[in-house]
Amino acid sequence: MIVVGARPNFMKAAPIIAAIKQYNSKTNRGASSARNADRPVELRPFLVHTGQHYDEFMSELFFADLNLPKPDKHLGVGSGSHAVQTAEIIKKFDECLTEERPDVLIVVGDVNSTIACALVAAKAFFDSAGTRPLICHVEAGLRSFDRTMPEEVNRVLTDQLSDLLFVTEESGIKNLQREGFSQDKIHFVGNTMIDSLLAFKEVAEKSLILERLGLQKREGNNGSGNSILPYALLTIHRPSNVDNCDGLCNIIEGMEDLRANYPIIFPAHPRTQKRIREFGLERYFVSGDEGDGRTAPPSQVSPHGIRIIPPLGYLDFLCMMKHAKLVVTDSGGVQEETTCLGVPCVTVRENTERPITVDAGTNVIAGVKKEGIRRAIKYQENTNCKTSTPEKWDGHTADRIVEIICSAVSHRRVSATKIAEPAVLERAAT
Ligand code: UD1
Ligand code: UDP
Repeated sequence: MIVVGARPNFMKAAPIIAAIKQYNSKTNRGASSARNADRPVELRPFLVHTGQHYDEFMSELFFADLNLPKPDKHLGVGSGSHAVQTAEIIKKFDECLTEERPDVLIVVGDVNSTIACALVAAKAFFDSAGTRPLICHVEAGLRSFDRTMPEEVNRVLTDQLSDLLFVTEESGIKNLQREGFSQDKIHFVGNTMIDSLLAFKEVAEKSLILERLGLQKREGNNGSGNSILPYALLTIHRPSNVDNCDGLCNIIEGMEDLRANYPIIFPAHPRTQKRIREFGLERYFVSGDEGDGRTAPPSQVSPHGIRIIPPLGYLDFLCMMKHAKLVVTDSGGVQEETTCLGVPCVTVRENTERPITVDAGTNVIAGVKKEGIRRAIKYQENTNCKTSTPEKWDGHTADRIVEIICSAVSHRRVSATKIAEPAVLERAAT
């Protein structure tokens, strides 16, 4: 059983489903690796969508773009406070888990759907022996060390509840070791979000988004001789950045110099759109209707405005990232994707749980004050980005995950309580 709920989950889960299909076709063909081992003959994926995100451009578009199958179960949870949303997911997922009794539960990332479903599975009791699913956390071990961030709470707790911890970067291994997890739970496998990026990078080139926004003129039938106007790309949605008027104004003002140099395209998350309207900040933005009938929030046209458009589908956004001169963001995933694409990134946050994007990638942490943001943008504009692809971000992470899960399932002939024992005993001993 694989759980998705919010936008960043779809691109992390899609490669795992693809890898499962590939595993099944390999075992059907009797490939030696699968035949020789004491492994399941077939894996039956069951996709659950909690409904945490539900607008077409926050959810449905991604199913088409990423070739995700229709969810086997949609919980239809929707928005609410953290407590209400998490509790609703817990209630509805409990029924679903009890009905389906999966052998394995895979949760990805750090959203409310991740922790809620891991918690239900950790306390599941399918029979008198206490059998429950093997819980796998994809993107384990990341830490911002900032407990005011709801995602940090979700990360720490989900890791505690999981049996297999799939780690994207070395900092994750160190964090988990420091927190006392036993080594046999930790698997450094790479990044499934990057599996998606590498799988869809070429397809994304066919996106017409740059033309729709008037940033590209195609010359010639085969698209040769295309000229792309320089532009910057902006995404901001973290509650700490957008839920407070002064904070949001500060960030927008931090981009004054940048918008003098480039048009800034801003696909705005619904939370951000809502706040812009509430705080009456429309004056900062140029309306950016893409001409496809989707409208941006009401705005006054300003000559120096940032161009606000609705959130984009995966392929359109990937195309926009790839060709941007600079990306300014507070997204977790976008820091990683720009690193992989070699595109300079300025992160509007005080910290990152993904330090590899700074150490080996193209990311600079700007803080959230306008002077810091200006300085970071200037630095990125005047510096040649050093890039190197982080270890194991090679497009094969999901294959590794499926292999490890198969091996764990085949060795798992014990009850739930017994699964927890080695790690618990080890911690107690230290
Ligand atoms: C969630 C995740 C965050 C992730 C982000 C990705 C948690 C704690 N946070 O934050 O880690 O970076 O998703 O996008 O899980 N809304 C809509 N339509 C939608 C979804 C949301 O209008 O389809 C609006 C609602 O007003 C809602 C608000 O956005 O109240 C926030 O949605 P929610 O899922 O609670 O959190 P995000 O800010 O999206
Ligand atoms: N993304 C997208 N359309 C957008 C903005 C982001 O497809 O308009 C993609 C982006 O490429 C990345 C993912 O959404 O794959 C990141 O999700 P988000 O920023 O919402 O969440 P976070 O990573 O911060 O948790």
